[in-house]
Amino acid sequence: MNKSDSERVRTVVEAIGYRWTDNEQEANLLGILACSVRQKSIDKVYSRIHKWNSWKNQRNLITFVSGCILPTDREKFLKQFDLIFEMRELPQFADMLSQYGVLNPASYIHDKLQFVESDKEETDKPGFDHLHLSVREKTGNGLKPLIHRPEEKIKDFWHVKPTYHSTYEAFIPIQNGCDKFCTYCAVPYTRGREVSRPSGEILDELKELVNIGYKSVTLLGQNVNSYGMDKNGTEMTFPALLRKIGEYGKISGKDFWIYFTSPHPRDMTDEVIEVISQYKCLAKQIHLPLQSGDDKVLTKMNRNHSTADYRRIIHLIRKTVPEATIFTDIIVGFAGETDEQFENTRSAMQELRFNMAYIAKYSPRPGAASSRWNDDVPAAVKSARLHSLTRELTRHTLDYNMKLTGKRLKVLVTGKDRKEGYLSALTEGKIVLRFKSDDEILIGKFAEVMIESATEFALGAKFIGKIITEKV
Ligand code: 5AD
Ligand code: SF4
Repeated sequence: MNKSDSERVRTVVEAIGYRWTDNEQEANLLGILACSVRQKSIDKVYSRIHKWNSWKNQRNLITFVSGCILPTDREKFLKQFDLIFEMRELPQFADMLSQYGVLNPASYIHDKLQFVESDKEETDKPGFDHLHLSVREKTGNGLKPLIHRPEEKIKDFWHVKPTYHSTYEAFIPIQNGCDKFCTYCAVPYTRGREVSRPSGEILDELKELVNIGYKSVTLLGQNVNSYGMDKNGTEMTFPALLRKIGEYGKISGKDFWIYFTSPHPRDMTDEVIEVISQYKCLAKQIHLPLQSGDDKVLTKMNRNHSTADYRRIIHLIRKTVPEATIFTDIIVGFAGETDEQFENTRSAMQELRFNMAYIAKYSPRPGAASSRWNDDVPAAVKSARLHSLTRELTRHTLDYNMKLTGKRLKVLVTGKDRKEGYLSALTEGKIVLRFKSDDEILIGKFAEVMIESATEFALGAKFIGKIITEKV
């Protein structure tokens, strides 16, 4: 989500005159899109801003922070960063910069922004098209920032055209916020209530990407499969959105893979799984967070489903889309998690045979309900549980990956591998692999490979040929 948001931030700062640099040491504008899901990432924000502030007497430097920020951190960040804004306020960021005392490109073009409103020629510049009207509005007293209701603001945010970080892989936000209030989670307090993006916009963005050759597109949201539910029947449901995309894939003749992350087991209807099985462009990879394999813990987490419900979904996926890989998220050491409850998670992992699990040690988030409970699982026990689950995971992934050896697979070439003379790629199920080739033209294209070797998390392959499947 942060990677996707940063693509829109880049558009805004470039539109007001900043140029990107890969060198942090020479930048005049430095910012962080924070993640509050775990304390570790927030700790990194504090050490970064400390460093940046120490550079301030050496050069003209403005710092900002946005992303997912909890109210307690917001108070502290206000003292350390020059600017702080919510992601949905991004279109107003240009304003904030231009009004900031220090000389910066935005203050130079302050007048130009006013000019842009009356002269449409200027809007031909990339980025301005989506920015100029939402940046400021004309009033009797000059120009003042637009005040929006939160829902309106997030719409403005979605209208900012991303500066994509890749030419073959992209993310499309389809929703913002979450209404589920899992007791450990910061998201409802940082991103607010769930708001679905209009399906027309999502489909337009997708078609535009696919038309210019994007091969992997991920639909993003905190709770993707409750898409549309906030719109009281005026918006399509998540499976209907997938079906629309599937139909587009069919009639366009384009070759691409669509992913989505993350769905919630509670809203994972049979229809979602059926639709995935029906369309080639809907990638056969499903990320479905389990969090815990113990019913009491799931209730305490406010997940609103049982392990039996989860198991039923996995069995349906295995029956309907047998080739699908299944990824999950697990939290170990949640407040009060006993050895026995952890053991239930371990045996669920053994039974459900995931292809990947993002396993996190529980960390209390200020404001979330569980922060009022005793974080009583010792750090060493959390680590031991994490390692135990990792062992369980790798036992299965190694077994799964070994069975792929000797198979011919279609893969998406993603870049140069760390190993000299090799390219890296992803299978449709998002298993990483590498094969010998220095033909960089292949990057961003589909290729056919033969799997020759396997480890727990990667495959070794031989290049067979480039895949050309699209209608000309
Ligand atoms: N502690 C540890 N992990 C967490 N996650 C969310 N909140 C916490 C927390 N407080 C994990 C969940 C979620 C993923 C994005 O991060 O597993 O699915
Ligand atoms: Fe957080 Fe739960 Fe919402 Fe996911 S569903 S974003 S874990 S509150």
